[in-house]
Amino acid sequence: MRTTLIVGNWKMNKTASEAASFVRELLSTLPMSPTVEVVLAPPFTALESVRTALGPSSRMGLGAQNLHWEQQGAFTGEISGPMLRNLGCTYVIVGHSERRTLFGERDADIHKKVRAALANQLRPILCVGESLGEREAGRTEAIVIGQVTAGLADLTSQDLAIVTIAYEPVWAIGTGRAATTEQAVAVHQAIRSCIATGWNKKTAEGLRILYGGSVTPQNAESLLTESDIDGALVGGACLKTESFATITLAAQKKRIR
Ligand code: PGA
Repeated sequence: MRTTLIVGNWKMNKTASEAASFVRELLSTLPMSPTVEVVLAPPFTALESVRTALGPSSRMGLGAQNLHWEQQGAFTGEISGPMLRNLGCTYVIVGHSERRTLFGERDADIHKKVRAALANQLRPILCVGESLGEREAGRTEAIVIGQVTAGLADLTSQDLAIVTIAYEPVWAIGTGRAATTEQAVAVHQAIRSCIATGWNKKTAEGLRILYGGSVTPQNAESLLTESDIDGALVGGACLKTESFATITLAAQKKRIR
C-alpha cells in the first residue's frame, strides 16, 4: 500500500519568523491521520525555524526545495545533502520545473541530485512535466518518460523504494489551470508502466506518484481520490493554513487500498 503524501512547496516565500508562526497555526489547524503523510518544504533559511516550531515528535516531515550534488566544497551559494540532513530534512525536491526553466537545470544535473539525495538518506521527490507546447504537439508522454528515465538512470529497485515522482505539467504550475483528473491519471499510469518495464512490477506498484500544478481545495478531492494519484505537491495553496488543511483533508478521503 502506498501512503498518500501531501507536500507543501513554499518556494521563495516566508522569512524564518513568518515560517515559525505559520507552522504554529498549521499545527492547530491541520487534521492528522495515519493514512496521510505531510511534508513542509520551506526555503533553506526557514528550515531551522520550521523544525523548531514543529517540535521533536512532529507528525509533519521536513523537506528542502533543492540540493547540490557534491557533499561540500567551493560551490558558492549552494547547499549540500549533509547540510540538509543535519537540519532534520528527510525529503528534498529535485528538478522542479522552475529549477529547470529559470536556472537551467538539465536532466544530467537532476540525475546527480537524485543520487546525492539517496547517498545522504534524503528521499528525493523528482519533478517531471511537459510544457504546453509539448502537450499540444502530442509529446507529453515522451517528454515525461524521458525525464523519468534520465532522472532515475542506474537506480536499483531498493533506491526506487525511497523515491517519489511528482508529475507537474509546466502549464499548470501557478496558472490556476490544473490538469484534469483524467489527464493526470493518464500520465501517472504511463510513468508507472515505464517503471514496470524498466525495473519490475513490484517496484512500479510501490512507487508514489504525486500530482502538482494548481492543486486547490476545490480540485483536490477529485484528484486525490484517484487510486493512481498518491498525493500532491502543492505550491500557492500551501501558503495559507486553511487551504493546505483542506487539501490534506481531501487526501484523507482516499479509499484505503
Ligand atoms: P502551484 O505550484 O500549486 O502554485 O501551481 C506547484 C509547484 O510548483 O510545485
